[in-house]
Amino acid sequence: MEMTPNHLTTTVSKEQGPGYLRLMRMAMGFRESKILLVANDLNLFSQISEGCRSIEALALRLPANIRVLRILMDALVAMGILHKVDNSYYNHEIADKYLVKSKPEYRGDFLAFTHYCWSQWNDLDAVVKSGRAISKTHGINQSERAVGNAYSWGMDNMAKAKAERIAKILDLSGVRRMLDFGGGAATYSIAFAQRNSQLTAYVMDLPLSIEVARENIKRNEMEGRVKVLQGSYWEADYGNNYDLIWVSQIIHQHSESEVAHLIGKATFALRSGGRLIVHDSLLTEDRTSPYFAALFSIYLLTLTEKGRCYTVNETKEWLIQAGLKEVIRIEIDAESDIIMGVKP
Ligand SMILES: C[S@@+](CC[C@H](N)C(=O)[O-])C[C@H]1O[C@@H](n2cnc3c(N)ncnc32)[C@H](O)[C@@H]1O
Repeated sequence: MEMTPNHLTTTVSKEQGPGYLRLMRMAMGFRESKILLVANDLNLFSQISEGCRSIEALALRLPANIRVLRILMDALVAMGILHKVDNSYYNHEIADKYLVKSKPEYRGDFLAFTHYCWSQWNDLDAVVKSGRAISKTHGINQSERAVGNAYSWGMDNMAKAKAERIAKILDLSGVRRMLDFGGGAATYSIAFAQRNSQLTAYVMDLPLSIEVARENIKRNEMEGRVKVLQGSYWEADYGNNYDLIWVSQIIHQHSESEVAHLIGKATFALRSGGRLIVHDSLLTEDRTSPYFAALFSIYLLTLTEKGRCYTVNETKEWLIQAGLKEVIRIEIDAESDIIMGVKP
């Protein structure tokens, strides 16, 4: 069943038109966001999927206050995430597919991480004025396990299907040794190694992410050909002679000079003829699209000191400066692109 966000049609009169509707939707979007994120944190959708459908049963199971839970559930019905028959609640297709823990396309970890980032957005006014982010999302800095887990599993939720798609697009038949630079939950290494039986991947990341990577590698039974290297890419000795260095969703965390330094370091670790691939949310040259990257850049302002989304040409230029040849772009989707170069 389609989602029917009927709250807008009830708050805006017809004469005010679609432009006004869009404006109000932007202004009040935080309400839907918070309701959904709280429901996800309560694991409400998994409970409903397991047959817990009445307010009374859910209030006991979660646990939650009956009066408030009823109001929350009815709002979720109004938002088109749940539906209600008599006094029983059911997941809409979208909640059933993405927000039930046992489902293969589960995105709840990513929503949990998004919720951890909520307080960052409160600082946006201060960030705009001062130019400085005050990151409260410590998991990113590897100091808080719950946030760190939601971060790494959340990245895995979002990257899994894409990793399988990219594994089909890229010809990795000659790759034997691959370094996954800041490889997070090892999502890409697992997908690339599963599709290419000669490939061994080394996932380098910080301790909390490496814990998640280990668990993910184990779940996928890829211990034989996906290994972990714990350490920071600023200091660690991650070896050399790699056929492929995969730098996915890393550059947006850093300043221009840091990115240039990282790409140079990574290039050094490639063998001659090896490939460096940057995968990221890249912008058009006027930096106003795609929508996803333009807004992702704002999130990065609240979270990182000097990060932002970069343009396709900025990224290509870093690879060229590092001495890579045959630098090309491969378009992936509305959220990310690949820039690839070969070491002479
Ligand atoms: C946005 S995630 C991307 C994860 C993965 N590459 C992917 O595309 O799914 C960024 C990753 O960079 C890692 N990272 C941040 N600083 C790092 C550092 N100094 N050394 C190694 N990894 C780092 C984070 O822990 C996180 O796993």
